Amino acid sequence: MAHYDWATLYEKLESCTDCGLCKGRTNVVIGVGNPQSKIMLIGEGPGRDEDIQGYPFVGAAGQLLDKMLAAIGLKREQVYICNIVKCRPPQNRVPEADERAACMDYLRQQVALVRPKVIVCLGSTPTRALLGEQMRITRDRGVWQLKKGVWFMPTYHPAALLRDADKKRPAWADFQAIRDKLIELNAYPKTEAD
Ligand code: URA
Repeated sequence: MAHYDWATLYEKLESCTDCGLCKGRTNVVIGVGNPQSKIMLIGEGPGRDEDIQGYPFVGAAGQLLDKMLAAIGLKREQVYICNIVKCRPPQNRVPEADERAACMDYLRQQVALVRPKVIVCLGSTPTRALLGEQMRITRDRGVWQLKKGVWFMPTYHPAALLRDADKKRPAWADFQAIRDKLIELNAYPKTEAD
């Protein structure tokens, strides 16, 4: 894989027509936060608010994500947040295999540029895309997986917590484990500028 710099990545993504999702988009939603963070959080794909504003996790699920980050002492400016697919699937449906595949190289480029030590998979779509189709979020969440020197934590998508309050307690435990892992790896952001 030839490595892009950020400018090239943005240029390629903003003009991308590699899958059908490009037809419905208002904005390509690339990422937000600190591109040098040691922690990356990956969701499924932009929803309506994200498509309009051009940034990931700015709607209701994003507000809950901000609260969960705040609970472990982090602001979104200190982490890097993106999605498996960068364009909104119609009616917020789960992105299809061909759409995920078309976007995967862009995510690989982002990971290569950010070089996180910890990747948080928010929900089933990123968990399966990054850790394997055999993964089941309810069964496998909360368990660390080390892959090519990066620690992966599958946890619930914040939208799932909005639908089912019983998931909040386990998700909270996962975020505590994320904080502990960042501290253990000496990767916990020290200041907002880190
Ligand atoms: N849900 C996601 O998976 N990603 C977003 O950016 C917003 C909602």
